[in-house]
Amino acid sequence: MTEVIRVAPDSPDSTALARAAECLRRGGLVAFPTETVYGLGVNAFDRQAVRRLFAAKERPPHDPLIVHVTSIDSIAALATRVPAHLEKLARRFWPGPLTLIVPRSRHVPDEVTAGLSTVAVRVPLHPVARALIEAAGVPVAAPSANLFSRPSPTQASHVIDDLNGRIDFVVDGGATTIGVESTVLDLTSDPPTILRPGAVTMEMLREVLGRVEMSRVATAANSVSASPLPSPGMLEKHYSPRAALTLFEGQASAALSSLVGVARDELSRGRSVAIIAAEEDRGELTGLASDPKLVVRVIGSQDAPALVATRLYATLRELDAAGADVILVHGFREDGLGAAVQDRLRRAAAGRVVRT
Ligand code: TXA
Ligand code: MG
Repeated sequence: MTEVIRVAPDSPDSTALARAAECLRRGGLVAFPTETVYGLGVNAFDRQAVRRLFAAKERPPHDPLIVHVTSIDSIAALATRVPAHLEKLARRFWPGPLTLIVPRSRHVPDEVTAGLSTVAVRVPLHPVARALIEAAGVPVAAPSANLFSRPSPTQASHVIDDLNGRIDFVVDGGATTIGVESTVLDLTSDPPTILRPGAVTMEMLREVLGRVEMSRVATAANSVSASPLPSPGMLEKHYSPRAALTLFEGQASAALSSLVGVARDELSRGRSVAIIAAEEDRGELTGLASDPKLVVRVIGSQDAPALVATRLYATLRELDAAGADVILVHGFREDGLGAAVQDRLRRAAAGRVVRT
């Protein structure tokens, strides 16, 4: 069985964490909160434990993991060299929601990196993550603590929903504050390339590095692409809800009228429809008559993508649990954290994007 250990998010009790840390060190699977989403941690140097982690998540082995440490000094044991930009970035953004891809040392098992010559590293900010990794005394490889193809967990209850009985502990430190996964920045390319947008935005990275590019995969609205993957797993449907999700993009009133048309059509065929929209969309949605098979979730303003990010995954999970057949989403503006929100929505849509 999976044991839940509840701790205070800001000052976790070290006695309570000690058992989870001991379990991690000995090869167990422990889910814990980070500032982005809950992670499922294992000792990064324990190959067997890493294999058990892939099995528990049903994650394909070609999708590499992020190694979490508590300080930049620990990177020396994981990387063959520390790229020039790393120290500058670390000073500005660590601890925090930024993952850096660096050349991998031979000490890091193939199971962690999917055999790549690089490794992903991150120093998380969340006090519970930091205290747990510190107490375990080993680098912690951790993907998001969801079943493969489910949205990432932003609360301990999401982890239990997906992984109860498959992992040893869930450390419950409440809801995460950012809500979408870390920015992944490849430092082995020139210029550095964002493989996954997150709370450390393109604008913030450019202030420190000058040139930064967004990978084509992260910008592609359509997840079907023939180009080689810069990062295995970047195109996987990591974020898919069970219901078919369609994303409506483009000029706002045209996108919304197209969304309303599809909603009417689906309702007329007896299907359960869920709509995710912004405050600004309420007016355009009033044209939809109330219907027992229709739910509308307004998850925040276009001007507050950070709040939208905190609610996105929990909303997808709720709508799935409520039995929605289709989820229709009006796209969010792509500045700041909006870029990360749109990226996750496009992945969840897996190609079902209507552009007006
Ligand atoms: O916020 C986060 O990053 C969370 C928390 C738990 O830290 N973790 C997370 O892990 O989202 P995961 O495994 O769900 O996503 C890791 C991403 C994947 O897209 C993977 O392909 C990419 O990082 N990645 C890992 N190692 C890589 C490498 N060596 N080269 C390129 N991409 C890599
Ligand atoms: Mg994930």
